[in-house]
Amino acid sequence: MVIFIDGKKVCLRPVFKEDLQKDYLRWINDRSNDGLTGHALFPHTLADLESFFMSRIKDKRTLWLAIIKKENDRHIGNIELSDIDLINGNAEYKILLDKNEQGKGLGYEASKLILDHGFKKLNLHRIYLGVHQDNKAALGLYKKLGFKVEGTLRQHFHRAGQYKNIIVMGLLSREHQ
Ligand SMILES: CC(C)(COP(=O)(O)OP(=O)(O)OC[C@H]1O[C@@H](n2cnc3c(N)ncnc32)[C@H](O)[C@@H]1OP(=O)(O)O)[C@@H](O)C(=O)NCCC(=O)NCCS
Repeated sequence: MVIFIDGKKVCLRPVFKEDLQKDYLRWINDRSNDGLTGHALFPHTLADLESFFMSRIKDKRTLWLAIIKKENDRHIGNIELSDIDLINGNAEYKILLDKNEQGKGLGYEASKLILDHGFKKLNLHRIYLGVHQDNKAALGLYKKLGFKVEGTLRQHFHRAGQYKNIIVMGLLSREHQ
């Protein structure tokens, strides 16, 4: 197996075309997640994913990786640094884990691996993200990783008649342990 970044319980490797046909299609069409992540506003077909995949692998400003559970070699989620800006030294971080694998410390470990890579190898200075105000798991994870609240996009996210805030958080290289 190609390993890009190795950890204890998880490792990160490139997303392969074969990954698209398996659980990934289910994750991004999961409407129960949609209220917090906005993934499933439109249905995603395999053809959509394949064209997204082709654009992603050509995009040199994005580091898009599959999270692999080492115990059974299963692809359990994706993680990325996107909009990598090497002049200003910043990038956006995103993560999505299979529901059955949440709450086991795997998101934290995968995040540490990609943040380490971003700060130590890509020489980034600031990594940022946006998160729904009610996404308790994600807010807890980001706080544990050391992200600080930098601002609020007020009433930025709409679902079923309600507008919710998106919290913008950032982590500077000197704050990352
Ligand atoms: C957000 C997400 C990546 C967290 O990953 P995870 O592997 O479940 O989180 P971990 O088990 O590594 O937990 C790390 C920390 O996050 C917090 N956390 C995790 N799940 C939580 C929950 N349900 N409620 C509150 N805090 C939670 C805790 O602080 C935890 O640390 P602790 O175990 O020492 O208390 C995962 O839940 C996910 O993929 N959710 C769906 C997609 C999503 O919302 N992505 C983020 C969009 S902004």
